Amino acid sequence: MALRVDERARVRGSWLWLLWHCLASAGCSHRPQLRSTVPRRGFAKVAQRESEVADRLSKEPHRCVVQLFHAKHFPDLRMYCFVMELCSKGNLTSHIRKLRSNDSSAGFGEYVAPAEAFHWIGQLLLGLEHLHVMNMLVRDLKTDNVVLSDQGRADRIMAKITDFGLCRFGTEATGDWTFDAPPGTPAYIAPEVIKGQNYGKAADLYSFGAVIWVILTGGLKVLTAGLPKVEPPCAEMAHKWDYSVLAQNCKLIAACVQNPEKHNARPLPSGAAKELVLGLTRDEAEKRPSLPSLRRHKALVHLKLPPAPASSKQADAWLATLCCLSCGGHGCSLCRLMEDGGILLEDSPLRRRRPRKTPVPRRSSLQALVTRS
Ligand SMILES: *[C@@H]1O[C@H](CO)[C@@H](O)[C@H](O)[C@H]1NC(C)=O
Ligand SMILES: *[C@@H]1O[C@H](CO)[C@@H](O)[C@H](O)[C@H]1NC(C)=O
Repeated sequence: MALRVDERARVRGSWLWLLWHCLASAGCSHRPQLRSTVPRRGFAKVAQRESEVADRLSKEPHRCVVQLFHAKHFPDLRMYCFVMELCSKGNLTSHIRKLRSNDSSAGFGEYVAPAEAFHWIGQLLLGLEHLHVMNMLVRDLKTDNVVLSDQGRADRIMAKITDFGLCRFGTEATGDWTFDAPPGTPAYIAPEVIKGQNYGKAADLYSFGAVIWVILTGGLKVLTAGLPKVEPPCAEMAHKWDYSVLAQNCKLIAACVQNPEKHNARPLPSGAAKELVLGLTRDEAEKRPSLPSLRRHKALVHLKLPPAPASSKQADAWLATLCCLSCGGHGCSLCRLMEDGGILLEDSPLRRRRPRKTPVPRRSSLQALVTRS
């Protein structure tokens, strides 16, 4: 974000607002960060929506959704500012990309999903459920919009949903496109949204399935601009408006799952994981499993997620049991590492212990909090 000199003078009054809110948020359990954005022409609606969602989320926070403390619009500057929870581990795309870059064969070789992969899937499930219960559709769930936070404990990285610019209030939508384009990111958009049909929660579940595929396989064994492509397969659009071809993406994912070698993909770790991804990315929205039924899915049942709809409190209690305090959740006499990468906690009094709170730094320089966008 670059501001002209005369704009800077006007911003000064805004700094006071930001300083006040950053300091006020510093007392919260999570460190705040400041994100400011001047939306491109025609995209003010996106920032506007994010700020409305921030308002709702600040009243009903959830640990699996990035906490937004305050949002403010400075109409003179066309600038939106968000004071939000700092997730120091960055986004999931860049995390997976790093894991793949470390690979001796430049991202083409083996990728082993991180030990926490299934925990993250469970956390995303609870975060998504929270947004659905709050009567919102995310419409842009993808690995770029999942951030990792360690809350001061390197052995306890958790995943949270962020970026609510394309959220929709109400969980049923007509197929109308707001920006002459289907809402979302091409490789993750559900077929019914592409086709302009009515859609609902199942559209988010399609994106969730694509995210799960990327977490567990690392994305396609392809490089884009020299970097590993951490994305689900996506049909090639013949021109900028050729959206209809994206309705084929569900078939491309299915091909990658069933015949990975032939399609530049890696195999999923288990039959149950295959069934999970194939079920969520089905063409027919009504046949995709729902969030409550996913808890009983073979690939996820070992997570012992709290029953639907889980309250924030129940989610917190579940998160506390996730990490074995003895070994950090890597498998020991108290917790058992499952074949598919999941973790089974053996019954032990440790299970019920809450994680320690990390101390919050008292003073932080506002300048250091600013992330430029
Ligand atoms: C990549 O490798 C470097 C050096 O071997 C190591 O320090 C780093 O932690 C690795 N990164 C990941 C994400 O595994
Ligand atoms: C994800 O993280 C990388 C590295 O920090 C950054 O360059 C990229 O812009 C991030 N993506 C999104 C969508 O924020």
